[in-house]
Amino acid sequence: MFSIIEKRKLNDSMTLMVVDAPYIAKKAKAGQFIILRVNEYGERIPLTIADYDREKGTVTIIYQIVGKTTILLDQLKVGDAILDFIGPLGKASELEGYHKAAVVGGGAGCAIAYPQAKALHQLGAKVDMIAGFRNKDIIILEDEMRAASDSLTVMTDDGSNGNQGFVTDALKKRIEEGADYDLVVAIGPLVMMRAVCNLTKEYGIKTIVSMNPIMIDGTGMCGGCRLTVGGKTKFACVDGPDFDGHEVDFDETIKRSRTYAEMEKKAAHDYKC
Ligand code: FES
Repeated sequence: MFSIIEKRKLNDSMTLMVVDAPYIAKKAKAGQFIILRVNEYGERIPLTIADYDREKGTVTIIYQIVGKTTILLDQLKVGDAILDFIGPLGKASELEGYHKAAVVGGGAGCAIAYPQAKALHQLGAKVDMIAGFRNKDIIILEDEMRAASDSLTVMTDDGSNGNQGFVTDALKKRIEEGADYDLVVAIGPLVMMRAVCNLTKEYGIKTIVSMNPIMIDGTGMCGGCRLTVGGKTKFACVDGPDFDGHEVDFDETIKRSRTYAEMEKKAAHDYKC
């Protein structure tokens, strides 16, 4: 059993949880994920490691309350325990050797983009972080993202934070102003990652995307995270989650990602009723 040490509401639908998991904390690296099961009847869900503390032996996860399992998880309090918490899984991000990077996060994807920015910064790269949200009320991790980068730009779709536009607008502006990026990392909704990749392709900037959003059981068995990268079939949970964004067939992936939408909606609805 894995005790919950801290629980913090980040906005109306997102929660940060610090979990006692010393063996995972010892080995965790940016880009990797854990699989948890809330109770013995629960489904397994993969969640990215948002942070870890090797000395305290803790692992931080951030989840969006979108379905039955995350509703159940969010009912647990500090002092309660999660039944299974397994990891670190997936390949760690390869972030060494870059000089100047832009890390772009969209909505809940900022929970995954933040550790990437932190790792790049710790490795000595200059990091511009660009985060996008629908409105100012759902902005998360602003202090953490600022601390993990050399500059932070937060965009909102409705301009309610005084900075209206998409992450691609901010990224394009920085590139055209002369930011000499040798890497862009994009993590967020699939359509956002596709838009970032289309932009960086024009400028010839290497771009890494995290295909975490399409993972289901995270074990390489369900096949749900299958995608085409460079014309070859890959599985996000065992071959990734990071891939060269310019090689990913986003149109196919976006279509496949909608396969379970109705079933997920129904499971959450039936659980609530
Ligand atoms: Fe099931 Fe990758 S998430 S095979």
